[in-house]
Order: sequence, then structure tokens, then C-alpha cells
Amino acid sequence: LISSSITSVSSTLSTMSPLLLLLLPSLALCSIKDEERVIAIHEPLALFHKKMHQLDKEIEQSGKLEMDDERQKILKERLEAFSHLSHMDNITHTDVLGVNANSGLINDLYEGDILLTKEQLESLSISSSRARRQAWKPKRFPSNIWGANKDIPVSIDASYPRDGIQVLRDGMRFWNDNTCVRFAEGAQGVNKVKFIYGDGCYSWIGMIGNEQQVSIGRGCGTVGTVTHELGHTIGLYHTQSRYDRDQYVIVNDKNIQNGTAHNFDKETAENTDNYGIPYEYGSNMHYEPFGFAKDRKIPTLVAVSKDYQFSMGGDMPTFYDVLLVNKYYNCFEANCKGVSVSCKNNGVQDVKNCRICRCPTGYTGNDCGRMDPSFEVIPAKDGARVSKSISAGNGKWETATTLSKKSYVIQAPAGKRIELIFTNIDVVFPTGDCSYGGIQIWKNKDTRMNGMRACRKEELAQYYLSDGENVFIKIWNKYAYSNATFTYRSY
Ligand SMILES: *[C@@H]1O[C@H](CO)[C@@H](O)[C@H](O)[C@H]1NC(C)=O
Ligand SMILES: *[C@@H]1O[C@H](CO)[C@@H](O)[C@H](O)[C@H]1NC(C)=O
Ligand SMILES: *[C@@H]1O[C@H](CO)[C@@H](O)[C@H](O)[C@H]1NC(C)=O
Repeated sequence: LISSSITSVSSTLSTMSPLLLLLLPSLALCSIKDEERVIAIHEPLALFHKKMHQLDKEIEQSGKLEMDDERQKILKERLEAFSHLSHMDNITHTDVLGVNANSGLINDLYEGDILLTKEQLESLSISSSRARRQAWKPKRFPSNIWGANKDIPVSIDASYPRDGIQVLRDGMRFWNDNTCVRFAEGAQGVNKVKFIYGDGCYSWIGMIGNEQQVSIGRGCGTVGTVTHELGHTIGLYHTQSRYDRDQYVIVNDKNIQNGTAHNFDKETAENTDNYGIPYEYGSNMHYEPFGFAKDRKIPTLVAVSKDYQFSMGGDMPTFYDVLLVNKYYNCFEANCKGVSVSCKNNGVQDVKNCRICRCPTGYTGNDCGRMDPSFEVIPAKDGARVSKSISAGNGKWETATTLSKKSYVIQAPAGKRIELIFTNIDVVFPTGDCSYGGIQIWKNKDTRMNGMRACRKEELAQYYLSDGENVFIKIWNKYAYSNATFTYRSY
């Protein structure tokens, strides 16, 4: 049930640089597969392992992952709640970390899917401030980024499976259509990106100089994985390593595999710029909550906000992910200087068309002043609760080629709120990231933040009260069906 349709395996040997070929004899003890893998991804592998080991030690000794009584209490409560969820037995992991763990590659990568250059490794000066950021800004910034509206020359390895290429193009197109970053297949230049069909999904961070690879291998072939890896290529680290992450997630250090603590390192406020973007569990750059777990039934990342435990990681870049990149690349200044626009419902200027706004979930129109008509309106009244069932999917017990989706907005009369109670959620193939089916709910007036997501009944609170007149709901499916039933009324 892995989502990738890619089946053939290409040789990563064709991607080796002459320098790395010289290292072959020293790897004689590895299997051929390991050789290819290690050579394909890492130049200073020994240095990498040494640094990560130092970082593991530092994290243990500094007590960075230790928590005060209050956080201990939250963690204990949340874990107890999980222990009653029998469905957790068979949770399926279809994300990047899962793929890289299966390929055995994960120990050779930073934060699970990141390659670091020698310079970046050295700048990980242990026990001092670090030259790393969510949007990475080293001393030589902005020379590590590709530049606003500048072509990023892209090639696709000649042996890349043909039926996987469209997904790469869709991933590039997402960033091209929504930001001033410009991936340009076939363009020429010294600094460039090459897609390879490597053993897993990984990328370098930012522009590192000359040709740099992005691997979208077997099991990585979804548009959201491509946008995630290209997010690293643009210069983004993971959301859960933000310096302020402790307010939002608790790292369950007791369940972290030995020797992987470096993957839970966090940035410092000193060298980090989040560009005022709030912490978003559903970001395309956030981990799923079971990464590096000893016991895969118990999460390693526990959401401080209970509603979001099952909403970590997003299948596509979010409104805020796009905004982060547009700020990081200075796209507003580059494209929209002197053009002002006034946006409603928390819209922001569209850097691709400065006279109009980009709208958060549920809104549309040049100024985001209209409700998005793709959301079917369910009017709510005061009084008795009304029951409603919603459904997506074609009912066939096979993976569909396209996602079946439906969107609803429950609307209260002006000045009222919505009371919503879920009575059932039935998704045939629930995964860790609900990629085969699930529902998502926006209960706040401000819909910029990705909504809460669930694909099992236990993952949702039973009762929600909106803070505005609208609750937006999406339901999707790509295997058999996703059904949900709830009651609602205005309040
Ligand atoms: C988990 O999977 C195993 C084997 O496929 C099955 O026997 C078991 O009933 C499943 N457990 C749950 C809770 O679905
Ligand atoms: C963890 O790994 C280190 C070496 O990386 C080793 O010294 C230590 O004994 C291991 N601890 C456990 C509990 O396996
Ligand atoms: C799911 O919803 C569809 C459409 O309402 C319905 O036909 C089907 O019986 C439902 N399936 C289950 C298992 O409830």
C-alpha cells in the first residue's frame, strides 16, 4: 500500500562523483547496497557520525530534553491516554522517516532526511551557538539561498523511473506557483539540483554550491514528499527543531532510540529566525510523531495541544509554509514593492500577483472576502442537535489514482458559534498521517493554521465549540471510503 507507483530501481552509481569513487576500497566490508547508499549520500560520513555522536552526548548531558514537573505531568497524561488506544497497535507509517528507516539510511542523515556539508557540520559547533535556523541563515546569508526569481537549474537523473517524473514536476510547480522560488528544469548554471532515485528521501539544506542531489526514491513518490525535500533544498529545517518548539511539543526522551537524540536537537533564539510564523503542527516540514521511536506504538513527539497529536506533519506545504518561504526569500520586496493590497479574513498579498490576496482555508476572491464556494454550506440553527454523515471515496478496495475530497462549512447565524460533536469516524485504511483517508477541522475564526486532522475516532475530541460563526471540514479518501458522522447546532 505504499503510495509510490515507482517500481524499477535505478543505479545510484551513476550519480557518484570521481572523488567519492576513490573511497570505494575503504568500504569493502559493506554490502554492495550499502556501498552505493553511503557513497551516493555522504562525503564526510565519518565526520557526520562523530558530530552526531557529540551532539547526542551533549543533549544527554545538558539535559536539553529534560522537563519540569508540569511538562512531565502533561506527558504522563497524554501517554496514558494513548495506552487505551488499541488501534495504535497497527499504525502504519507512510512518511519520509518511515521510508528512510526501512532503507536503513536513517542513521546517516540529520533529522532523518537531511544531508549536511562539511561546512555545515563544522558549524554545528557543539556547546555554543549554532549557525542553523528553521529558515537557515548562516553568516554568508543570503548567498546560501537561490535568490528571488532566479532560476534554480534542475535536472533529473537519466535513469530516474519515467513514471515517477510527473510527481517531481508537480512538487517543483507547487513552489514555483506559490513563491518567488523558481525551479527551472533544463536551465543552465554552476549551482544546480539533480533529482536521483536514491535509497530513500533526502536533500541538502540550502544552496551548497555546484551540483547537489535530491533523492526521491522508492516510497517517496508523492508530491508532498517532493515539496518537503525541496523545502530543505530551499533552506528550511524541520518545524519541530524550532527554538520555541518546547511550547508546542514534548520530546518523549524515554522512547527515543539509542544514538538518535541528535534528531531532536533544537535551535537557539540567538541564531534562529522564524519570521514571525507561528508553530504549525501540520506543516509540510514537521515530523510525524513516531520518528526514532524504540516502541513504534508510543510517540516520541507529544503535542502540548491535545487536539493536534494526530495532526503532525502535512501532506502539502501549508499557507504558513508558503509565507515562511516568501519572507525568507524576500519575495514581497522583490515582487510587490510599492503595490499594496488590503486583504480580508487574514489573507496575505500574493507574491505572484501583487494586486490580489492569497486566502486561508475557506475564503476566496481577490481580497479573500468571499466564502470559498467549494465548501458546501451546512446551515446551523439553535435548538436540537442535527446529525449529519459525510463521506468520501469510491468504495473500491484498492488505492485510487486520485484523492476523493469533499469540503463543508457549518455556518451559524451572525454572532453565534457552532457546537460540534463527532459520533463516528470510519476510515478503511488509517495511517499515521491519514494519507489514505481522514478528516480535517478548522474551528477557529483564523483559518491560516492547518486544521486538526484525524482518521480514527479516538483521535478527535468528542466535543468542539467554534470561536466564530464557521467551522470548516474537509474529508478525503484514496482507499475504499472515509465516513464521518457528527451532530451540530448553533450555540
Ligand atoms: C493488527 O494486525 C494483526 C496482524 O495483521 C492482526 O492480527 C490484529 O488483529 C491487528 N490489531 C488491531 C487492533 O487491528
Ligand atoms: C548506546 O550506544 C552507545 C554507543 O553509541 C553505547 O555506548 C551504549 O552502551 C548504548 N546504550 C544502550 C542502552 O544500548
Ligand atoms: C459510508 O458512507 C456511504 C455514503 O453515505 C455509505 O453508502 C456507506 O454505507 C458508508 N459505509 C459505512 C461502513 O458506514
